[in-house]
Amino acid sequence: MEYDIAVIPGDGIGPEVTGQALKVMEAAGRRFGFGLRCNVLPYGANHYLATGEILPASALAEIGSAKALLLGAVGDPRVPMGPLEQELLLAVRFHFDLYLNLRPARSLPRVRIPLKSLEPGQKIDLLVVRENTEDFYMGLGGRGTGDLRLPVKCRRGNYDLAGDINVKLTPGTEAAAALGVMTAPGVARITKKAFELAAKRGEKNIHVAGKANAVPSLYGFWDEKVALEAKKHPGMTFTPMNIDNLCYQLPRAPLDFGVILCPNLFGDIVSDLASALIGGLGLSPSANIGDGLCMFEPVHGSAPTIAGTGRANPLAAILSGALLLENLGETEAAQAVDAAVTGYLTHSPSLPYEIGGSSPAGQVGQTITGMVEAGE
Ligand code: NAD
Ligand code: IPM
Ligand code: MN
Repeated sequence: MEYDIAVIPGDGIGPEVTGQALKVMEAAGRRFGFGLRCNVLPYGANHYLATGEILPASALAEIGSAKALLLGAVGDPRVPMGPLEQELLLAVRFHFDLYLNLRPARSLPRVRIPLKSLEPGQKIDLLVVRENTEDFYMGLGGRGTGDLRLPVKCRRGNYDLAGDINVKLTPGTEAAAALGVMTAPGVARITKKAFELAAKRGEKNIHVAGKANAVPSLYGFWDEKVALEAKKHPGMTFTPMNIDNLCYQLPRAPLDFGVILCPNLFGDIVSDLASALIGGLGLSPSANIGDGLCMFEPVHGSAPTIAGTGRANPLAAILSGALLLENLGETEAAQAVDAAVTGYLTHSPSLPYEIGGSSPAGQVGQTITGMVEAGE
């Protein structure tokens, strides 16, 4: 059995961490009897600077012909913040309608957790369920002086938006605006997933991040549609929380939380907060799931200041690889990778820099590769 995998290593530490993840995944393939045929795509800052191209339509077609996509990270200080992230990473999420962004954050062996609210032995086990296609990520916005124009044209899996919003400002006033959009089916489908995932974890309640007090037009709608979907899940309950209060309570009592359902923007923020609580961004994997091609990537970005230093922790990428293998149906291989990461953290004499050790990414990846091969 051979699987076609598309890989975008991307920028900064992206190539370093995806390189290690691929090594580990290939080792799992050797042990469990499958191969990975990797189509490594060049997109990212270097390609953009050399060619002016971010992600051509042909790349989306190539990615779509693979069984899964592994992405490192995009973003580079030589390129303005925004277009690369939007037209590459967000473009993939929207094109394949990857509406479910799963971001688990679990305590790991020997990783010191920066919280006094935890007793030794207590374990954080969070699952951020992030809506991944709507909210303020629509990519709709504009700016102007005296005249604010927001051209609206975008496509999602199950609807199109088109039109123009023109707003007159007091002459001479310079302004910018972004349009946040939510649809009833968009909220319903992510809420359904959150309840199903909670039930699978044996939990009856989920927390739901919102902000209806300040932005009722958008987040009031979110709360209302979450409540409507909740009625279809008898036995399940939800606790709505304003995002500010959620960010306050989460570090104070992380064990009170399991599944946290978030609209897109808050989900981005809460997943970095959850990563901090478990000891580092380099420990947090993610899966972007839709009905077709799925994308797997660490929660972290391209961390340009540590790129090339060996200080990048590849575990988030390796664990994203495990999520990818699980998605392919290679459950044993996925479990073997997870087990090797746990074994590595438990026993290795040296650990990644991010968690207090001095092992460069390549050494971390090499050790885990050996453990996967040996079935440790
Ligand atoms: P970042 O996640 O790259 O870095 C935040 C902090 O965490 C930095 O201190 C960094 O050194 C550290 N860090 C991140 N990953 C690490 C790892 N694996 N090991 C050790 N330390 C790690 O966030 P940022 O600085 O806000 O963004 C940098 C660039 O990455 C920006 O261009 C941003 O848009 C982009 N970005 C891309 C993605 C993605 O492609 N999925 C995600 C987030 C940010
Ligand atoms: C993430 C990133 C992206 C996001 C950026 C790079 C657009 O922060 O995947 O968490 O906000 O979704
Ligand atoms: Mn983020």
